[in-house]
Amino acid sequence: MNNELGERKKESYKIFDEIAGTYDLLNHTLSFGIDIYWRNKMLKHLPNKDSINALDLATGTGDVPLTLIKDPRVKKITGIDLSKGMVDLGIIKVKKKGLDKKINLMIGDGVTIPTGDNAFDLTTISFGIRNFSDPQKSLFDIHRVLKKDGRLMIMEFSIPENFLVRQVYFFYFRHLLPFVGNIISKHKDAYTYLNKSVEDFPYGENFLKLMNNAGFENLKMIPLTFGIATLYIGDKK
Ligand SMILES: C[S@@+](CC[C@H](N)C(=O)[O-])C[C@H]1O[C@@H](n2cnc3c(N)ncnc32)[C@H](O)[C@@H]1O
Repeated sequence: MNNELGERKKESYKIFDEIAGTYDLLNHTLSFGIDIYWRNKMLKHLPNKDSINALDLATGTGDVPLTLIKDPRVKKITGIDLSKGMVDLGIIKVKKKGLDKKINLMIGDGVTIPTGDNAFDLTTISFGIRNFSDPQKSLFDIHRVLKKDGRLMIMEFSIPENFLVRQVYFFYFRHLLPFVGNIISKHKDAYTYLNKSVEDFPYGENFLKLMNNAGFENLKMIPLTFGIATLYIGDKK
C-alpha cells in the first residue's frame, strides 16, 4: 500500500462524515442500483442456524442490517462504523422502519472491535474493509468475536478478469465515477480516493489468504457482475 493512501485510510471515516448526506443517493445511482442486488446476495449464504445474532462492520447508513433483517432467522444486528454522520443517518432509517428493537447502530472501530469474544453467529462487511487501516488485524478480531461455526461474509470491489470488461471498468472507476461523485457530493476528492482504495486492495485469492491467515475455513469467493465485486465467505470452526 502506498504511504499516502495508508495515512488516508486511517482517517477515511472523516471523508464519509463529509459525504454522508449524499452517500445513499450516489451509491444507488453510480452503481445503477446493482449495489442493492449485491447486498441481497448475502441473504443466500447465511449460516445454517435457526437464530442469528449478527454484527455488521463499517455499517455506514445501515443498508446491510436493513437487508439481513429480511430473513426471519436474523433476530438481532449490531452495526458498527467510525463515522458519526453515516451512523446518525442509519439510525433515522432504522427508526423509520420500526426496526430499532432489532437493529442497533453505533460508533466503533472494525479493526479493534468493541465487543466480547464468541458473541456473534455472523459478521458482515460490505464495501468497508478496503478502508480499514489494517484489514488483517480486523480479520483476526472478527475471528475472535465470532462463535464456533459462525460465518464471515465480506463484499468488496474487485478487478474483473475479462480484458474488455476491465477496460470499461477502469474508464468508469478512474474517470467517470470520480468526476460525477466529487461534483454531486461537493467533496474535492472523495470519489478519487474511492477509486485508489479499490485498485490498491488485495482481491481474489490474495484476499482469501488473509482470511486463511486469520483462521477462517471453508473459504469461498463468489464473483458478482463480471467480478466488479466479490463476496468472500469463511467459517470459524
Ligand atoms: C463505502 S462505506 C460502506 C457502507 C455500507 N457497508 C454499505 O454497504 O453501504 C464504508 C464505510 O466504512 C467506514 N469505516 C472506515 N474505516 C472504518 C473502521 N476502521 N471501522 C469502522 N468503520 C470504518 C466508513 O465510515 C464508511 O461508512
